[in-house]
Amino acid sequence: MRLEARYADLEQMGAEIFIGDLRRRDLIERAVRGARYIISAHGTRPGQSIAEVEYQANIDLIEAGQVQGVERFVYISVLGADRHYDDAPVFKAKREVEKYLTRTQIPYTVLRPAGFASNLLTLARNFERTGFYFLIGRRENRTSLVSTDDLSEIAIQAASLPEARNRTFAIGGPESLRRDEIPKIFEKLFNRAGQILQLPIEAFDAARTLIGLVNPVISRDLGTLRVLLANEYTCDPHEVQQVFQIELESLHHFLRRNLLYST
Ligand SMILES: NC(=O)c1ccc[n+]([C@@H]2O[C@H](COP(=O)([O-])OP(=O)(O)OC[C@H]3O[C@@H](n4cnc5c(N)ncnc54)[C@H](OP(=O)(O)O)[C@@H]3O)[C@@H](O)[C@H]2O)c1
Repeated sequence: MRLEARYADLEQMGAEIFIGDLRRRDLIERAVRGARYIISAHGTRPGQSIAEVEYQANIDLIEAGQVQGVERFVYISVLGADRHYDDAPVFKAKREVEKYLTRTQIPYTVLRPAGFASNLLTLARNFERTGFYFLIGRRENRTSLVSTDDLSEIAIQAASLPEARNRTFAIGGPESLRRDEIPKIFEKLFNRAGQILQLPIEAFDAARTLIGLVNPVISRDLGTLRVLLANEYTCDPHEVQQVFQIELESLHHFLRRNLLYST
């Protein structure tokens, strides 16, 4: 984790904190010293290079884990990593990391989550204020949004569960929702009627082309968002529930817990 990160809660729970930038291999080697398990859950922040953070930092983590002889490497990938979305740099990097990891001798578990329910917290707050839900692409597309807390719990269990060794799991929530069902959940949650503002994917493509004239790197990186907006991300929750001790949380429950009952 980096110096600006908020980690007081983790420290209070007894975690030993190592501050360092994942783009520094020497720091990765120091951070994993003495570790029994590695859970790789970082993402690429805006302005960082996907090749450095999404790909190379994971390769360095895997290699450092191998030297340490860790008992399990749990890798948070993404649902669809195996679909060959070559216009999406994050999907591409994750597929390459998966390939690398599964060819090593290190015991692994790959988790491929659908979109995080936590992504919707800001959209829900905006809906509560304005009554509008902004949507790009087809409203019929389905997604199995996963509670971020469930994913954390699964990742922790995966580190030591024999049944999860050398396996890859698709991780979603208990329901597969059409995108236009999401504002209906907001309506119920905030007890107010809402309206969907919808833009076709072609509008996104046009904006991306224009951005590309000014900044080709941002335009290329937007390929990941395009792939997320244009496709379906659903999975069967039963496989996960057969292996992991977990009752998957619905989107409505997650939002209620985090928006209405959080302090
Ligand atoms: N969000 C989704 O819907 C979704 C869906 C499927 C899969 N995933 C995958 O799940 C993982 C977690 O997603 P997320 O949305 O929580 O990711 P995120 O917010 O982009 O990043 C998670 C963490 O990565 C850390 N990080 C980034 N660059 C770093 C660096 N150079 N050195 C050290 N730490 C660094 C950040 O630390 P700081 O706190 O210090 O900034 C942050 O805590 C990612 O691998 C993502 O691709 C996400």
